[in-house]
Amino acid sequence: MNSDSDLQIAGDLLEVQHLLRPAREHPATVAEFAGLARSIADDRSRWAPLVQYDATTRWYHRLLSLPGYDVWLLSWIPGQGSGLHDHGPSSGVLTVLDGELTERTDRGKRTLGSGAQRVFAPGYAHEVVNDSLEPAVSLHIYYPGLTDMPMHAAQCAAAAATV
Ligand SMILES: [Fe+2]
Repeated sequence: MNSDSDLQIAGDLLEVQHLLRPAREHPATVAEFAGLARSIADDRSRWAPLVQYDATTRWYHRLLSLPGYDVWLLSWIPGQGSGLHDHGPSSGVLTVLDGELTERTDRGKRTLGSGAQRVFAPGYAHEVVNDSLEPAVSLHIYYPGLTDMPMHAAQCAAAAATV
């Protein structure tokens, strides 16, 4: 036989599926967590029927609780905000599902339209506000699950206002 390799494939190459690594059941990278959020965002039937709006407080609902991470659904009527906070030891992915939110940090502010995503590491501090005139809905994945959300003094909002 005339070959540079000792490896020979015998039989049908498409019959080796059992040798392939199975797809991971749970995300394990930032990109995979962002992808999970994107796939939930794209499937409105998975979240839209659950959304409620509460004029007295921000409404939230734990959509999924899985090994090592949680997925939360939040609604924001105009004017509602989180206050300046971090997420303790958790990393997170914030995805805007509907409407528009504003994120303020000590580096300024940014408008997050529907479909926008923000990924953050433990210790990242921000304030999220619905500054628009329409309700907004967002999806939040925390890894590990959110156990602590320390509130910060509000100097960040004042700094952002000058940017
Ligand atoms: Fe947050």
